Amino acid sequence: MVSMVIKRAEKLLSAENRDPNLMLKDVVELLHTEKPNWDWVGIYVLDGEVLRLGPYIGHPTEHVAIRSGDGVCGTAVKENSNQIIEDVSSLDNYIACSVGTRSEIVVLIKEGEEILGQFDIDSDEVGAFNKADEELLEQLSIMVSPWVKEYKKIMHG
Ligand code: SME
Repeated sequence: MVSMVIKRAEKLLSAENRDPNLMLKDVVELLHTEKPNWDWVGIYVLDGEVLRLGPYIGHPTEHVAIRSGDGVCGTAVKENSNQIIEDVSSLDNYIACSVGTRSEIVVLIKEGEEILGQFDIDSDEVGAFNKADEELLEQLSIMVSPWVKEYKKIMHG
């Protein structure tokens, strides 16, 4: 079954607006609106060995650049695998964006085998994310992948 979020995202991504920044921002906003306990929703874009913060909704964060291997986001890149963290207080290498965050999911955005970036989502609730959320974000990551590629082309101005 195609979820409501996927249907809405398909509509957003087929819109006339071709600005990759706005396209990705629309998707981030959609997730933040549709999922009440997804308190911080963002996209990081991989630039060499560094993840750079792209469009996001939630508390402003100083973590605009995260090296591969650092925190949950960098671990996803280094291990080439999505991350679901039930309780962030269990981690030694956690990079806190907000003191209220209790759980986190990271789903990679790829083109073939190449990692282009990732969805990073934080919740103020413990255990907010499950396998179904990961699958939803995997579907979305396929849909946004061309836009992340375009975003990468323009991000250095
Ligand atoms: N918590 C992430 C850092 C990004 S913020 O959540 C926005 C991490 O540990 O990599």
